[in-house]
Amino acid sequence: MCELKKGGRGNPDTPVRRFLATDIMIIAKDIPSAVNEVNNLKKQGATIALVPTMGNLHEGHLTLVREAKKVADKVVVSVFVNPLQFNNAEDLKNYPRTLEQDLAKLEQEQVDLVFTPTPQTMYPNGMENQTSVFVPNISDMLEGKLRPGHFKGVSTVVNKLFNIVRPEFAMFGQKDFQQVAMLKQLVEDMAIQVKIITVPIVRDAEGLALSSRNGLLTETDKPKAHLLHAEISKLADKIRNGNRNFEKLKEDTREALDACGFKTDSVDIVDASTLGDITEKTVEAAILVSAYLGKPRLIDNEVVKL
Ligand code: PAJ
Repeated sequence: MCELKKGGRGNPDTPVRRFLATDIMIIAKDIPSAVNEVNNLKKQGATIALVPTMGNLHEGHLTLVREAKKVADKVVVSVFVNPLQFNNAEDLKNYPRTLEQDLAKLEQEQVDLVFTPTPQTMYPNGMENQTSVFVPNISDMLEGKLRPGHFKGVSTVVNKLFNIVRPEFAMFGQKDFQQVAMLKQLVEDMAIQVKIITVPIVRDAEGLALSSRNGLLTETDKPKAHLLHAEISKLADKIRNGNRNFEKLKEDTREALDACGFKTDSVDIVDASTLGDITEKTVEAAILVSAYLGKPRLIDNEVVKL
């Protein structure tokens, strides 16, 4: 089923099946409708950039959309809180769902097609019976170790979205550093004909990386949240200044964050291209940090030239 949204004019609920003008945003709720709309775009000879999201859109997501517009003729955004990638039922339950506001933002950005499936649409035979795609090694290290099954859920849903939308380009944020690395490997290993474009982290004025989970911070915790980035920056500066005592640097960062009220989950300093240990061949190091601040678990990272 498809719905039409038209720049504040007309009835937003009028169903349509075709593109009528360039300022029309189509909403496809099921796979056949999305495939059909994508086919219409492809028939026009348009190139497509896909922006996969879980909704609750903020400037980080919208930056991906704007970058998508620069590289392709048409932009498709998916909004789907993917249950397959949540290893924690509470996290899935609390994940903010704000579809109406999201659609208004996407309309403002003049997105061409939005795909808003339900779990039943994406996994009609149930999640346990869904064929999965798994990228070995990278899915099990670092964040993958702390969140078992998470990356398998991401690679499976993104692979399915690629099959539905068949985009020439797909946009992902550097904020989820390991996710982009894993998806690049997926595309290479499965010869998927899509170019992955990585977009730098979008931050608020204080340096906090924008995230849908920031909305779950309490009023007391909110003012502390930017310290995550501040501590990562301090660590990055020390590496830039020649400090190579990585174990001590990681421990210091963990202690500093815990002292500020975070419950640090992980601090890693890895080779930015392999995500493995730093070696003499390492050109860039990636500092990857995850920490709870109250309920939400925040992640952030910074890449440093060695
Ligand atoms: P979600 O967390 O909604 O993020 C969607 C995309 O926006 C991801 O590529 C993410 O890295 C990017 N993003 C989020 N915050 C950002 C920020 N502050 N700056 C730059 N980019 C940012 O990541 C997912 O959803 C899911 O795992 C998904 C890929 C959609 C698969 O379900």
